[in-house]
Amino acid sequence: METTAPLIDPFARAISYLRVSVTDRCDFRCVYCMAENMTFLPKKELLTLEELDRMCSTFIRLGVEKLRITGGEPLVRRDIMTFFNAMTRHLDSGALKELTLTTNGSQLAKFAEPLYAAGVRRVNVSLDTLDDQKFADITRWGRLKQVIEGIDAAQAAGLRVKINAVALKGFNEDELFTLQDWCAARDMDLTFIEVMPMGDLGNEDRLDQYWSLKDLRARLEDRFTLIDLAERTGGPARYVQVQETGQKIGFITPLTHNFCESCNRVRLTCTGELYMCLGQEDMADLRAPLRASSDDAVLEDAIRKAIALKPKGHDFDYSRQSVDGQVSRHMSHTGG
Ligand code: GTP
Ligand code: 5AD
Ligand code: SF4
Repeated sequence: METTAPLIDPFARAISYLRVSVTDRCDFRCVYCMAENMTFLPKKELLTLEELDRMCSTFIRLGVEKLRITGGEPLVRRDIMTFFNAMTRHLDSGALKELTLTTNGSQLAKFAEPLYAAGVRRVNVSLDTLDDQKFADITRWGRLKQVIEGIDAAQAAGLRVKINAVALKGFNEDELFTLQDWCAARDMDLTFIEVMPMGDLGNEDRLDQYWSLKDLRARLEDRFTLIDLAERTGGPARYVQVQETGQKIGFITPLTHNFCESCNRVRLTCTGELYMCLGQEDMADLRAPLRASSDDAVLEDAIRKAIALKPKGHDFDYSRQSVDGQVSRHMSHTGG
């Protein structure tokens, strides 16, 4: 039988997690993610659903075990269920251990059941506030009620929900315990994320928004006992358990604690560019090799060459009252 060596990068990290952005579009305009007036890619630039399938299947053959679908908002891509349903075969074969997505929740009422049927068991929903007006402000275009209904539908369908909240100074600081209580009451995990300097917002803005998770954690510890957990989901979050409630809380700290040494993931954009690191500009075009030949060996070769260029890590830094390591792409480009 043909054998395929796994993907190992120059720093001996095995690449087992692929994040795939299936669209750059979104029905929201979160201030830290997008500009209000975005120019989106013309449709012909996108990988077709068949091409996405071929791309993902190749990565899975090369050892990827976790596939996370992102955007933009993945559920606004037309016929996206065709793609999810196609990936089910890799779950069935055992090659893929997890098929999941990160979503803003707006379309979950419609998609929760079909996603479960396709083999998805866990979804991450981005939600920074439980206040209607603040939600409208931060997402510019979103409605909180629609997202809550989506989360209800997800839980009703049997999907485990994790809430991702970007920690924003002066914005959701006062909701720390409200968010925590709300998630605990609904049996949902909660992960906080440090805001990263991406996109074209002025540097000053991002620095003003930055609320370190070191500080957030200290505030939680004023009220609760936090126990560090060793467990990992394959993502960058580090988890604690709240002793008093049993609830799990995650911290994603690209700024205060760089977790690059254990990085196991790469990101494919909806146009077939492979970003080897969220915080660096390096990328490799995989669309050309994909389209150049129907022989997957050509694509495999391009993937291996790309992985060989994976950088050691990102250099985000807000110290010295300025933003370093900034990346000009919007987060929606690489799907976070
Ligand atoms: P789990 O499987 O639940 O652990 O998911 P995850 O944390 O890998 O995925 P999710 O989409 O919930 O990621 C949350 C956010 O963490 C992303 O949107 C990014 O903002 C950030 N993030 C994920 N991976 C990386 C990474 O490699 N580097 C940096 N700097 N941030 C990351
Ligand atoms: N910094 C940190 N997280 C961000 N996200 C989007 N933009 C940023 C940023 N600049 C988060 C979203 C979502 C995930 C896909 O990425 O809130 O949880
Ligand atoms: Fe859309 Fe998510 Fe970006 Fe908000 S953070 S604009 S929901 S892709």
